[in-house]
Amino acid sequence: MDLGLRGRKAIVCASSQGLGKACALALAQEGVCVVINGRNRELLEATAREIREAAPVDVTPVLADVSTREGQDALLGACPEPDILVNNNGGPPFRNFRELSREDLLTGVTMNMVTPIELIQRVIDGMATRRFGRIVNITSASVKMPISGLDLSSGARAGLTAFLAGVARSVADSNVTLNSLLPGSFDTARLSAGLTAAAKRRGVAASTIMKEWRAAIPARRFGRASELGNACAFLCSVHAGYITGQNILMDGGEYPAAF
Ligand SMILES: NC(=O)c1ccc[n+]([C@@H]2O[C@H](COP(=O)([O-])OP(=O)(O)OC[C@H]3O[C@@H](n4cnc5c(N)ncnc54)[C@H](OP(=O)(O)O)[C@@H]3O)[C@@H](O)[C@H]2O)c1
Repeated sequence: MDLGLRGRKAIVCASSQGLGKACALALAQEGVCVVINGRNRELLEATAREIREAAPVDVTPVLADVSTREGQDALLGACPEPDILVNNNGGPPFRNFRELSREDLLTGVTMNMVTPIELIQRVIDGMATRRFGRIVNITSASVKMPISGLDLSSGARAGLTAFLAGVARSVADSNVTLNSLLPGSFDTARLSAGLTAAAKRRGVAASTIMKEWRAAIPARRFGRASELGNACAFLCSVHAGYITGQNILMDGGEYPAAF
């Protein structure tokens, strides 16, 4: 299927590795020029090289913290009129909610709710005027299903989800869509760090935790970042113009409900 995206421009936040990188790569392979982003220069530049080798498109690395105004200015400076915005960021660390300070709470809400909203505020009207826009937010299955210890992440992302439900409807008639992808367990550096931390907490081998986590997923495996990247590219495609305001779980069947 040709996704009809050749020549489009995308900003993909937090994309030097993991799920963001997979989105940038999938879009680049569809002919989209991509601005990629991260805070580690070596990692970011290595990823830019990798994407350029995989696809003949412009790849612009922006070394910046997406949670800051300066970082957002740098991203928009590199691509002032994006057709596509993929919102992604790091997530707050696993922590007992009792231990979160006010500053921790505000940082988590800034990362996973305020930052994507700020970027959307800055791109959405241009997209509506040009009558094409695709906004995809990488959130988490924890928006629907509690994960103890990731309460701040869940709360901030659920706030984003509710906030955007109305926004999505307000621009649907301009061919601008807003959707979120809700990953369950995907095989990335973040998952490995979570496995290692869980193993340490329980005093068992990481392989034991990995087996338990896999066993809890009906697909009996972790997701591949490329699967999420390709789903993101489809949501950005010309074929997905009638899908908006949706929250799409990608969790190998882990969320146990019909709806
Ligand atoms: N993997 C999963 O199973 C899973 C499940 C549910 C939700 N999620 C969520 O999905 C998102 C992506 O997860 P992932 O697994 O792909 O994580 P990852 O492998 O750790 O990658 C995170 C990426 O974001 C960049 N990044 C982090 N903070 C940034 C910032 N402030 N500004 C710019 N770039 C930043 C990192 O680069 P630098 O550190 O160099 O900046 C890196 O490129 C996270 O919010 C995570 O909580 C993941």
